[in-house]
Amino acid sequence: MPSRKRDAPSKASRRLLAANERELGRIVLDMHDGPVQDIFAALSQLQVLDRALEHDEASQRRVRQAMALLERVLGEIRNFIGAFRPPGFERRELAEIIEGLAVQHETLTDQVVQLTVAPNVGECALETKIALYRILQEALANGFRHSGATRQAVTVERRAETITLAVSDDGRGFSTRQVLAREEDVGVEGGHFGLRGIQDRVAMLGGTFTLTSVVGKGTTMTIALPAE
Ligand SMILES: Nc1ncnc2c1ncn2[C@@H]1O[C@H](COP(=O)(O)OP(=O)(O)OP(=O)(O)O)[C@@H](O)[C@H]1O
Ligand SMILES: [Mg+2]
Repeated sequence: MPSRKRDAPSKASRRLLAANERELGRIVLDMHDGPVQDIFAALSQLQVLDRALEHDEASQRRVRQAMALLERVLGEIRNFIGAFRPPGFERRELAEIIEGLAVQHETLTDQVVQLTVAPNVGECALETKIALYRILQEALANGFRHSGATRQAVTVERRAETITLAVSDDGRGFSTRQVLAREEDVGVEGGHFGLRGIQDRVAMLGGTFTLTSVVGKGTTMTIALPAE
């Protein structure tokens, strides 16, 4: 069963969306300049120690284990930074950031994203662009993590002042009624923020959210947002 939702937007909530994205940009930069630099410094110290312990194999092994752990943490932080760093919303057009995200998802997951962006999609308000990007990011992640499908289709279209984003997979599907009804579970026991967050973003901009899923057949999510 599809479920739909529509709320009135407010100027304050539009500003909030852009402010959140600036805040996220700062967090990502802080992670890069803080923990990442400290881990590099710790790794260099361990490299020195590794050389000094040339004649103490047991200690050297431990030092190398510590280095491997730090390398792994670095890799994880890099993935996080890559995924959450805002992609230059002010500078780049909607089609370009959507294409970039699709390619990034394919590279990270080895999944196929079949992308169709209508040629007339044009420019839109910053808040709309940010919302479409973050919603697509979550929808692609959900398809990859939960659907079991190896490919997803993404289309972006524009009719007059409405931009529509549809993301679909032919994976295992799920009971949307059950998941969407579990609002009280959001944030409890490690997760399920994704679909809730999408609905909140859509509501803040006065758009519509439709989620259709058939067990054994797949899932399609369609978002329509005012372009301006
Ligand atoms: N494309 C999909 N195919 C199959 N199941 C899905 C799909 N998208 C969502 N689901 C189901 O809906 C649930 C809720 O999704 P939601 O994005 O809200 O949370 P999550 O992905 O589990 O966690 P989070 O997004 O907070 O990391 C998922 O746990 C999964 O069971
Ligand atoms: Mg999710």
